[in-house]
Amino acid sequence: MEYWSIEGGRPLGGTAKIHGAKNAVLPIMAASLLVDRAVLYRCPVLTDVDAAARILRALGCTVTRCGETLTVLNTEGVCCETLPEEPAREMRSSILFLGALLARCGRARLSFPGGCELGPRPIDLHLMGLARLGAEIREDGGFLDCRVNGRLRGTQIALPFPSVGATENLLLAAATAEGETIVTNAAREPEVTALAEFLNTCGADIVCDGDRIRVRGVGELHGCAFAIPPDRIEAATYLCAAAATGGEIRVEGVCPAHLAAVLPFFEEMGCRLDVGEDTIELAAPRCLSGVGCVRTMPYPGFPTDAQAPLMAALCRSEGSTLFIETIFSARYRHVGELLRMGACISTDGRTALVRGVGRLHGAGVACTDLRGGAALVVAALAAEGETRLCETHHIERGYSDFVPLLSALGAEITILRQEEPHFV
Ligand code: UD1
Repeated sequence: MEYWSIEGGRPLGGTAKIHGAKNAVLPIMAASLLVDRAVLYRCPVLTDVDAAARILRALGCTVTRCGETLTVLNTEGVCCETLPEEPAREMRSSILFLGALLARCGRARLSFPGGCELGPRPIDLHLMGLARLGAEIREDGGFLDCRVNGRLRGTQIALPFPSVGATENLLLAAATAEGETIVTNAAREPEVTALAEFLNTCGADIVCDGDRIRVRGVGELHGCAFAIPPDRIEAATYLCAAAATGGEIRVEGVCPAHLAAVLPFFEEMGCRLDVGEDTIELAAPRCLSGVGCVRTMPYPGFPTDAQAPLMAALCRSEGSTLFIETIFSARYRHVGELLRMGACISTDGRTALVRGVGRLHGAGVACTDLRGGAALVVAALAAEGETRLCETHHIERGYSDFVPLLSALGAEITILRQEEPHFV
């Protein structure tokens, strides 16, 4: 069993270069099914990207990586309409392949995605939208079987909630549909915009205007080269780690505008910020202040993915902070682990009240999910003594080079392997 040993209490200092965004590259990899060749620059090295590459290969594509450049070739055309079960199960956003596969082949089959560590994650909005575009959807022995007679047809779709994944699936399906599609109450996350930009670079006709997206279907798309935008959540996590440890950090290669809802909280915590065109410098005080209330919301609101790392940073603050999680029903699973490190947090349904404590101490803790795992690392870096963190595979789904990058910032963090207990 692998675990990470983190010796806390050292302020982080230095520069962190931010990678391409996980949540942007995954839908764009699904979109590459629609073209003969996609060259993706700044592609992060993540296990979720590996899983998406395995799905593409099983569907007949050639996927190669050279450093940070991922190339997807699909010259022979898609050879299979069924998503392979194992990588699809590993990565929940495999649902994004549904819209692309339907558009490309007129048929798509996948095993029904179950719940996940953040609570039940229904796909009703994806299916409602695809059905409005003309897909026939049947459930058949645990499989979803989607077909379309001829081409998908553009239409008006009003989403009851601005689901990121559903909006992306609709863009993927509508880009080559017949006629015009209008999606209202669409998600506005930068990763949705990045997908639209990728598709437009491939010849699509998509206009994002706030929460209204207009897609004029085009007959065919062509290949392109595209740079994945920076990962705003990765940047927010490093800023949280620096704030929690009383450090000074510069994150490079970011888009500060994407973090507009996050940065003011660092100032409220007492950090000094210097925001450049694509850099953010943060200098933290010795003791952070509580920030009142943090409410997660769809973009441009405070991102749910930054909730756990920010909560970890605030565990050692002076004063209290109330978190209200409005996006996912089970996104406080890291709280139990933070308590083991001496944090004082009480949860009640969608709210969590953090009362700052003077010190955190190292403990044996387990990652519960991707962002919850990152939060435990933030807390461990700020804690006194050693933290032993297991189930770190969750973190590797979404953070490239996490351990080397933190080490370069001065963290004392080592990957260790413990033999499984041997019973005779
Ligand atoms: C994406 C991100 C994830 C982020 C989330 C919210 C990717 C790969 N993942 O996830 O990191 O935390 O956006 O910003 O981009 N819902 C329904 N029915 C649906 C679809 C969603 O009820 O058909 C609900 C979900 O259960 C959840 C909420 O809507 O409560 C938000 O989900 P959604 O925006 O779709 O998130 P994802 O695309 O899954």
